[in-house]
Amino acid sequence: MEDMNADRPLLVAGGVRKIYRTGSVEVAALIDLDLVVRHGEMVAVMGPSGSGKTTLLNCLSGLDDIDAGRVEVDGHDLFAMSDAARTEHRAHTMGFVFQAFNLIPVFSAVENVELPLLLVGTRPREARRRALEILDRVGLGHRVEHRPSEMSGGEQQRVTIARALAGRPAIVWADEPTGNLDSSMAGQVMDLLCELNRDEDQTIVLVTHDSAIGARVPRLIRMRDGQLVDDVRQTVTDPVPIRDAPLG
Ligand SMILES: Nc1ncnc2c1ncn2[C@@H]1O[C@H](COP(=O)(O)OP(=O)(O)O)[C@@H](O)[C@H]1O
Ligand SMILES: [Mg+2]
Repeated sequence: MEDMNADRPLLVAGGVRKIYRTGSVEVAALIDLDLVVRHGEMVAVMGPSGSGKTTLLNCLSGLDDIDAGRVEVDGHDLFAMSDAARTEHRAHTMGFVFQAFNLIPVFSAVENVELPLLLVGTRPREARRRALEILDRVGLGHRVEHRPSEMSGGEQQRVTIARALAGRPAIVWADEPTGNLDSSMAGQVMDLLCELNRDEDQTIVLVTHDSAIGARVPRLIRMRDGQLVDDVRQTVTDPVPIRDAPLG
């Protein structure tokens, strides 16, 4: 299966333009942006605040509309589809992790993770099995009945990563996933994302303004004023794992 997907483009964006209009004021947030992401890549998008990182994520995932250009994900042109078809396509091919965890407070961890599966019609028994399996994978097998308020920030973010991965998405989008975490928990969340990419070929596009996070990702893209100004591959060295520390 890996061979079939190897080096095949998963995301192809060409000439993407996004203009926000507020009254008579126009902000060009993406200017003729081109980007190709291949299956199994992990890409960090860096740039100063206001450079267009969140807009890039929202537009290339089809969460938001674009003003010009074309975005193809897994062979489908996102903006040639109806809104309903795009939502359906997104539910089957994409997972999302945001800075604010966006967990449902009255749901347990396992209920939060299985919800998107139930929404795409997975049978309850299978949804529960998969949710437990993926929570175990992110190191939360002992927290499945906990509610978000009963977990640390690092644990909550690992629940959202489990939720993003539950449906086996082709691509995971993460916008400042460590932005609400202290540096130790941020490191553990990055360990997990890097491991999912390296060991399971999970394609991940991660937005961050933190250069320590960017330094850990094999491909680094820089944005400035709505444009890509740099795109480099870098050698990443894994930090030495701290085996004794409890997961945050
Ligand atoms: N909903 C919006 N309405 C108007 N302008 C926006 C909106 N969202 C973002 N912008 C503007 O677009 C530019 C890019 O913003 P954003 O993508 O959020 O940047 P980043 O994530 O890199 O901080 C900024 O100038 C920002 O002020
Ligand atoms: Mg942002």
